[in-house]
This record gives sequence, structure tokens and C-alpha cells, in this order.
Amino acid sequence: MQSVNIGVLGLGTVGSGTVNVLRRNIKEITRRAGRDIEITRAADRTIDKERSCDISGIHLTTDALEIVNDPNIHVVVELIGGTGIARDLVLQAIENGKHVVTANKALIALHGNELFEKAQDKGVTIAFEAAVAGGIPIIKAMREGLSANSIEWLAGIINGTGNFILTEMRDKGRDFPEVLEEAQALGYAEADPTFDVEGIDAAHKLTIMASIAFGIPLQFDKAYTEGISKISQEDVQYAAELGYIIKHLGISKKTEQGVELRVHPTLIPHRRLIANVDGVMNAVLVKGDAVGPTLYYGAGAGSEATASAVVADIVDVVRTLTTDPENRVPHLAFQPDAIVDTPILPISEVVTSYYLRIHTDDEPGVLADITRILAEQSISIEAILQKQPEDHNGIVPVIMLTQEVAEKNMDLAIKQIEELTTVEDSVMRIRMESLG
Ligand code: HSE
Repeated sequence: MQSVNIGVLGLGTVGSGTVNVLRRNIKEITRRAGRDIEITRAADRTIDKERSCDISGIHLTTDALEIVNDPNIHVVVELIGGTGIARDLVLQAIENGKHVVTANKALIALHGNELFEKAQDKGVTIAFEAAVAGGIPIIKAMREGLSANSIEWLAGIINGTGNFILTEMRDKGRDFPEVLEEAQALGYAEADPTFDVEGIDAAHKLTIMASIAFGIPLQFDKAYTEGISKISQEDVQYAAELGYIIKHLGISKKTEQGVELRVHPTLIPHRRLIANVDGVMNAVLVKGDAVGPTLYYGAGAGSEATASAVVADIVDVVRTLTTDPENRVPHLAFQPDAIVDTPILPISEVVTSYYLRIHTDDEPGVLADITRILAEQSISIEAILQKQPEDHNGIVPVIMLTQEVAEKNMDLAIKQIEELTTVEDSVMRIRMESLG
């Protein structure tokens, strides 16, 4: 049987890893795929440069469109990233009847609906396992392994840079800016590190997982996104005293009112397995009604870890080359005509419990004022911790854990608490999840 020719667009970290993994394991991969697979062409910005992969036998070009338009290429692997040129190339590849494998989370989260529709029309597949949580096969697990279940919720540590920063802050007492600088130097962070620390990268990945979990269109624009840059050493320590760990989670839940889609720092009980996922590692917890909670853990980034997912997608695509397009696993797990428009809930409608840290003056009646405001918004206090006044300035940190309440009620309460003349600074609020 004729071998399957692959054209790789982008020979950076993941592209080089893809070449290395495919070549190193080619015998086993061929036994799995049932066909010979060969990377015959690759595009990169520069031809003559030192590389971390063996490119012998691969015809290099700086013109990615040449590969997309080459009739001898069967599968295009897009590893350029971003939503500009990458989108044009993927659209052209689909137009030319080629299957596409991509690691591009932004492309799928922002343009997936359009791309999948076009791929469906053309009878080709877009495979995107590497777009979410690097080497963890979470797409495959949710789309196929959990297909018997009604998925209730999922929660993931899906940005390694953010997790590295929070881990260093907790374990070594370091401050946010210093650790971010180190994460950039180590090459963990995105080109624009605000994508990592402000939760945009995680929201891309969460958007994709939520669509697969609940059979809804991709709606990145409706995801609530809050970063970790305001988390202070003080909050990390108070959370620990109360038995919690702060993680930057992407959470999606199905409720009677709609689907929650939110990325924010979250207090979780320290005993949960996912609370102990440290450093750059990723993990996703998925709760199905039949199976219960399931946890997927592994490297969320890195050359060969991400290549592991890219190559697995290539194998999947090769296996389905001869199958009827109507009988392939649907892109978003549900058949395209069975995707439903369940509303995404605005964050004001989300119901959760909270950690509040309030800096107050050391005066009688301050706590009474705060608890009165909370009671007026039907907010019940679960735990309270008052520290001794800080040196010199007489400011008293008061930490409260609340029971579940709608975010809009908490917004009102916080606004009124901040208006008290005895309250200094803004109130720090961190949402809490039991993940039980
Ligand atoms: N910057 C991302 C992370 C890389 O830190 O997880 C993988 O998407």
C-alpha cells in the first residue's frame, strides 16, 4: 500500500519533537497504523539553521502554502500557532481535501466551528489532541473513553506556567514577578506570558474540552477568565492554614440553567489528588455520571510530550483514511447535527463558595459590620480567621470562607464591604471548589 505522506508546517519545538518521535518509533507506529507514514515535506521560516531533529530526506521550504497545495501530501500537520496564517493554511488544506493535525489551541477555540463545518463538507478530519494539555490524551478520553457518560463537570490545571508559578510561591515563599521571570527563562511561558498568567491559554483549552464534554459549539468569547497575577504570598499562606491549596483551574459544569465556563484561581482541599499536581505538570479531572471522577495527569507542554499527541493524531488519521467520513468519530464527540446551543452562564450567575481576605482597622464593631453585610446578601460564613494586627500599621487581616452563593450576591457584598471606612484596600476574593 502506498505510504502516507505528511507535510509539517513549522519546525519549532513541537515540529522537531514530531520528527524525532515519528522517526524513532517508526516501526511500532507503522505496526499500529497499518500503513507506512513518512514526513516528506516541512516548512520553516529559515532553511539553513542548526536543528534539534534529523531532517534528512525531508524536503524543506519556507513557503508553507507550497506544501498545502502539494497533491502528494495527504496529511498537513500545522504547528505554526496563532490564528492568522495558520488559519489560512488550514482552510486551504481542507479545501484541497487534506486531513489536518494541529496543536493550535487558539485556532480551534476561536475558529473550530467554522473549520469543522468545512472539514465535514469536504469529508476530511481535523485532529487536535495536542491542543489541550500537551501529551495527555484528554480529547480521546472524553470523546471516546467516556462516551457512555453524561459528563457533569470537568476541572483542569491546564497551564503549566501558571502551575509552576503557584507551586514555587507555595513551596519556596517566592513572589509572583520573580517566579514569572524564571518561567520565561526556562521557556515554559507562551511568547506573550499574559496568555499564561491571565488565563487566556487555559480558556482556549477549557473551551475545547467543554464543547467535547457537553456537545455545545466552541464559545471562547463567553469564557470567564481571571489570572493569577493578584495572588499574594499572604493568600497562599492563609489558604494553607485553612487546609487548602490555590490552583489556577479551568472549570466547566453543566447546571440546569446552562454551562459554566470559567478560568480563575481556586482554593481546593489539599487532600485532593489534583491539589498535588505541581510544577509544570497538567491534570484534568472529569466527572461522568456512570464512571464517577476520573483524573488524567501528565506533561502539558514540551517538545516530545506534545509530539506524542501530534503523532497519535497522525496515526488516528491514517487509520481512518479509508473509512466513510460519516462514520468517523465526530470532531466535538457529538454528531454535528446534535450539537445543542445550551447557554453559557455569565460569571454573575455562577454559584460557588468563596475565600475572602479583608484588611480592616483594629477597631470594635468592624467584624460585626462585615458579617451584617454578608447576612444581608444571604451569605453564610463557613470559617473565619482573624490574624493579629500587622506590625506598625495596625491593619488586621480577616479571612473568611463562605458557603455557596451566587457571584452577583457576592459582588454586592464586596462592594459594600469595600465602602466601609474601617476597611482598607480591596477585598481579595478567591472562589473555592470541593471537587468532591
Ligand atoms: N504555555 C503553555 C503552558 C504551553 O504553560 O502550559 C502549552 O500550551
